[in-house]
Amino acid sequence: MKIKQAKPFLKWAGGKTQLLNEIEAKFPYKKNDEFSFIEPFVGSGAVLFWVLNNFPNLKSAVINDINKDLINSYKTIKENVTDLVLILKTFEKEYHSLSEKTEEKKEYYYKKRELFNARKPEQTKQTALFIFLNRTCFNGLYRVNRKNGFNVPVGSYKNPMICNETNLLAVSKLLQKVEILSGDFEKTINYASKDSLFYFDPPYKPLSETSSFTAYTKDEFDDNEQIRLKEFCDKLDFINCKWILSNSDVKGKNPNDNFFDDLFEKYQINRVLAKRSINANPNKRGQLTELLILNQGVYNAI
Ligand SMILES: C[S@@+](CC[C@H](N)C(=O)[O-])C[C@H]1O[C@@H](n2cnc3c(N)ncnc32)[C@H](O)[C@@H]1O
Repeated sequence: MKIKQAKPFLKWAGGKTQLLNEIEAKFPYKKNDEFSFIEPFVGSGAVLFWVLNNFPNLKSAVINDINKDLINSYKTIKENVTDLVLILKTFEKEYHSLSEKTEEKKEYYYKKRELFNARKPEQTKQTALFIFLNRTCFNGLYRVNRKNGFNVPVGSYKNPMICNETNLLAVSKLLQKVEILSGDFEKTINYASKDSLFYFDPPYKPLSETSSFTAYTKDEFDDNEQIRLKEFCDKLDFINCKWILSNSDVKGKNPNDNFFDDLFEKYQINRVLAKRSINANPNKRGQLTELLILNQGVYNAI
């Protein structure tokens, strides 16, 4: 029997599944190579799972994100997946039993949201609530208010899968070799070495005032943050560490906007086609170019 490969267990704005082919084409390592992989803005981890599934000799992997709820869910799946599955199965049974009762389903959702926002210390329960909300909320979005309260309204999915047990078990198995950090991306500098590859997928610079998907956390990721990240990339480059970075192609939208072309001028900037998966307006889900920027260590190796 073919064992199913682990895939992201959350829907996440900016998920990279659509860009995997492009990343594979620029990837500096071959199947049996030994290297360390570090993902400082892991989100739902599409690239992380691709790496864990496809490179059997990977020496180590480190993931990080500033979103504590998200990182808590990785830790729970790594350490306590059996209990998590039990709670999620109960939620799934209860929610599906309400099938056509729209009002009661709504009420159930908002009760779970309230419970999640109470942020009680039981981390496995918190993770189950987080996954439940992610599966049943509007468009799988994550948005919090200034007090870190999750405030996305209920979605309209008929029969959402809440507990994908097979995938959670596969994810748990793969996470055993992953070190999980939570905080600012600069923390990951401690893991930099000559045989490590960093993949950066920061909150994208918005293409317009209204297209902002950067509110993953209470704190914004503005232009100064993009510059701070580039300076971090310079440090890695200086110590011969390899890195790949993705971001939005602001020049594709406005030919006079040279923000990234100027900022990363000493690196290799590739423009690739990608579909955005989370957008409330289906007319805006069309094809856009995105940036895939490589440092010399990477493009020398491909
Ligand atoms: C574009 S998403 C990553 C998408 C991800 N690669 C995927 O496939 O789903 C950006 C992530 O950066 C995180 N983030 C924002 N500011 C951060 C910071 N200063 N340090 C680390 N992570 C941060 C957000 O919480 C969010 O999960």
